[in-house]
Amino acid sequence: MRVPVLFTAMIAGMCFWACQSDSTSNNQMPPVMTRETPPPLATSAEPRLPMSGAGSFESLVADYESKDRVIWQKPGMVISMLGDLTGKTVADIGAGTGYFTFRMVPLATHVIGVDIDPRFISFMDSVKVRLPAEYRSRFESRLAQPDDPGLNPEEADAVIIVNTYGYIENRVKYLQTLRSGIKPGGDLLIIDFKKNNLPVGPDNDFKVSVSQVEKELHSGGFEVARIDNESLDYQYIILAKKSAQQGE
Ligand SMILES: C[S@@+](CC[C@H](N)C(=O)[O-])C[C@H]1O[C@@H](n2cnc3c(N)ncnc32)[C@H](O)[C@@H]1O
Repeated sequence: MRVPVLFTAMIAGMCFWACQSDSTSNNQMPPVMTRETPPPLATSAEPRLPMSGAGSFESLVADYESKDRVIWQKPGMVISMLGDLTGKTVADIGAGTGYFTFRMVPLATHVIGVDIDPRFISFMDSVKVRLPAEYRSRFESRLAQPDDPGLNPEEADAVIIVNTYGYIENRVKYLQTLRSGIKPGGDLLIIDFKKNNLPVGPDNDFKVSVSQVEKELHSGGFEVARIDNESLDYQYIILAKKSAQQGE
């Protein structure tokens, strides 16, 4: 599906606007991050999930690039957990519109926006052409397979997976494959929704608990370095390192 040029320009503009800063305001808006197949409606006793992103690609894009997202997602703070990215190659797995990818472009030497959906690859490429020349050459979109992020051996210094972990099937095997694309001792940052009864967000069944992610990381050949349940109201942040051992 082609994304209308005007719409793309609007979203790219929103991205650059949002890149300016992370708000720390307490006036938080609820996260949406709607899945393409919307979860079942809650019963009348429960809050209903927002349905604004269900359906079209354009509404998914608007959801992922919502300007309120910067308030609860705190992308600058999240990215800072990877430390100084100067001279580094970073891959964003399940990059979507490039919400995190394009925020890392000014900071790293090479940023790879990985996705399995060709529409998001086209979308990111349409944002790329609007980047300043010095940043354009740092960005690469990469169409991947659901079971393989398509990284070259030891290509990435760091990998980030945001709001995507639950979409991946056979995750231990996936992590083992991903591991080979990361340099020795490299970082893996996973951010996803807490498995609480949040008023909004994906269906609870779809979420992966912190303890489950920890277990899978260990089996996948990673050591958990830090778990942060506090910095984001709705999400956990897990920083892991590629371990010397391959996992199980
Ligand atoms: C909810 S979106 C998150 C997008 C982006 N990370 C963000 O936070 O705005 C999930 C993304 O993961 C992609 N995805 C789903 N399964 C994937 C897989 N196995 N490998 C890579 N990307 C995947 C989808 O196409 C979609 O773009």
